[in-house]
Amino acid sequence: MDKHTKRSIYIETYGCQMNLADTEIVSGILDRQGYRICTDIQEADAVFLNTCAVRDNAEQRIYGRLANLKPLKNERSHMVIGILGCMAERLRKSLIEDQDMVDIVCGPDEYRNLPMLIDDAFGGEKGIRVQLSRVETYDDIVPLRTEGISAWVAVMRGCDKFCSFCVVPFTRGRERSRGIHNVVREIEELVSRGFREVTLLGQNVNSYRDGDHDFADLLRKVAAVDSSLRVRFTTSHPQDMSDKLIETVAACDNVCKYIHLPVQSGSDRILELMNRTYTADHYLRLVEKIRRAIPDVALSTDIIAGFPTETEEDHRMTVELMERVRFDGAFMFKYSPRENTRAYKMGDDVPDEVKGRRLQEIITVQRDVSYQINRQLIGSMQTILLEGPSKRSEKEWMGRTDTNKTVIISNDGYTAGEYVRVRIDSATSATLFGTVATISESLSAA
Ligand code: SAH
Ligand code: SF4
Ligand code: F3S
Repeated sequence: MDKHTKRSIYIETYGCQMNLADTEIVSGILDRQGYRICTDIQEADAVFLNTCAVRDNAEQRIYGRLANLKPLKNERSHMVIGILGCMAERLRKSLIEDQDMVDIVCGPDEYRNLPMLIDDAFGGEKGIRVQLSRVETYDDIVPLRTEGISAWVAVMRGCDKFCSFCVVPFTRGRERSRGIHNVVREIEELVSRGFREVTLLGQNVNSYRDGDHDFADLLRKVAAVDSSLRVRFTTSHPQDMSDKLIETVAACDNVCKYIHLPVQSGSDRILELMNRTYTADHYLRLVEKIRRAIPDVALSTDIIAGFPTETEEDHRMTVELMERVRFDGAFMFKYSPRENTRAYKMGDDVPDEVKGRRLQEIITVQRDVSYQINRQLIGSMQTILLEGPSKRSEKEWMGRTDTNKTVIISNDGYTAGEYVRVRIDSATSATLFGTVATISESLSAA
């Protein structure tokens, strides 16, 4: 029997979808080495936290979690604790020095070394591996996924954009892409296992490249694998949203008409300081172009409130941009200074209560717009992919529209993975409620 067979590993994932995809890669690596991936922390010989470093509050959450793992660690002295992901990469050996319960620190490009690090840790030796790579894509690793409807598939890693506020280029290193054939093969495999939706992932997915193939080529090939498979992708940087990509989204029926297009601010002065490489006007014209090509498209965005030197006037321009674009949804954050970034040197001069107030204002604007957009859908027919019972009740089912809106239906007895045609009866700013008209196995018939 393999010496690892009885060792159980428990992994908790924080941060973005890249981390969710990485946890499946880590699980794949460990599974291949004979470890058992477990879902009950009480059974774990090793606990890993796959962490995020994008804002200070993401890191504070991890410190909180470590503090609350302490009793478990004290109770079971052989238990190993490891930090993976972006915080591991950012804080490196200081994590082990400051947190004596941490045994392993392993950055996003070093996951192949985890079996060795774990063996050393069980032997009582702490270990740190945080080298970033220009080539690592884990292209040959089979991610360990539980059965499901929807899968995350990382197609590229890293980011070369260096937005001045962002740690990602430091924690994830340079951009690099997987081979197009390997991605397509992985999608075929997912389809044969019953997955009905894939989301192609990259910090900056539109700059995917494999030789002569760009992201639009990849998207077209993935969409061609199965016409009943829904294909999504995230995140798109406005600078890399090419005409060819827009045409591809428009042309492929099973590529979802939903684009996450972070704008960050509506002020040209702030956008320049952020190193975003576009102006508000550029962005608005891009949105118009997308809407002309894909009339029913849904758009979402990310916005930062209180970037260094942001004035009331800059803030007002952000509100105006939001009112002009009318995003279907937005993720909104208070600016959080990150060491080593360019913005860090600009100071953090917007007082916290001002950041808080501006954040609240943009949240309110967005909630109103989302509510109005959702209300206009009342009475319309939508095709939704059923994901399972809703969080609130076993009797209600939940699914999403092509445009990524959550729909709750007040019936049960369905199977996850079915497409159903639903009439929308009511709406809030976050959720649609509907009644089923027809069920279908395929996307086109529904
Ligand atoms: N690559 C993606 C996601 C990056 S992180 C993109 O370019 O959109 C997700 C979001 O977090 C960013 O879009 C930004 O809005 C926010 N963010 C990043 N760094 C931040 C910081 N230092 N403070 C506050 N929000 C930040
Ligand atoms: Fe960060 Fe900008 Fe790269 Fe997004 S594009 S990960 S915000 S540096
Ligand atoms: Fe966070 Fe790293 Fe993702 S910093 S947002 S987990 S790339």
